[in-house]
Amino acid sequence: MISSSLKKVAGALVSGGVLVAALGGSMTGCSPTPYRPPVPRMQADPDFLQIPRAVKKADQAEHVARVNSSAIEKIDPLKVTRPATYRPYQGNQLDLSAYGEALYKDARLSTNGLSCSHCHEGGDRFAPGFAQPYPHFVAMAREHAGLNRIHLDEMIQLCMMVSMAAKPLIWNSRKLAALTLYTTAVQQKFRENPAAVKRSSP
Ligand code: HEC
Repeated sequence: MISSSLKKVAGALVSGGVLVAALGGSMTGCSPTPYRPPVPRMQADPDFLQIPRAVKKADQAEHVARVNSSAIEKIDPLKVTRPATYRPYQGNQLDLSAYGEALYKDARLSTNGLSCSHCHEGGDRFAPGFAQPYPHFVAMAREHAGLNRIHLDEMIQLCMMVSMAAKPLIWNSRKLAALTLYTTAVQQKFRENPAAVKRSSP
């Protein structure tokens, strides 16, 4: 059982390496981040935006290529910019917040085995600017999408794509509303105790 899953991991690494080589990717300057085999995610979930190129295998190859590269992944700013017709999902605030907390800890939202709390537990990786009202400057938004100011829900979409190696969520989905509401509570706690800031690299 264990050895068969080890074989699978080894297989994924080998095929990942072959793909990177086939794409002409350089193995120099490799990031030390180990490749994590993808975990099952909510594939059929209607809350994920269906981006045409997003075939599961292509997603995995892209993720392997990304973790093996030190280059900054460029994201189309339109994918993380609120659409003109945006009407956020409305619902019972208590229910939404509880759902948001569960999602924040749920690695099934990603394809790389990470959850939001994996990186952000205890205020990890939040810069002091997180305490400021949105929209505001976030270094990651400028680096990846060229945006100088970003709203909270847009930032969540960016972390979904960059940090979670997943598709962005449907803008008016219950999931995005829940994560946004819960992250607002996280921001409030951070504001009250900025000393808890522990800035580290992703
Ligand atoms: C692999 C680690 C990682 C994961 C997983 C991750 N993030 Fe992030 N997140 C970061 C980093 C790094 C930053 C950038 C901090 C900066 O540039 O100041 C960031 C920034 C943010 C910010 C902006 C803070 C600010 O200054 O305004 C928010 C909000 C956020 N993440 C929410 C989330 C949510 C919600 C999830 C889950 C859907 C998530 N993150 C998953 C690493 C991660």
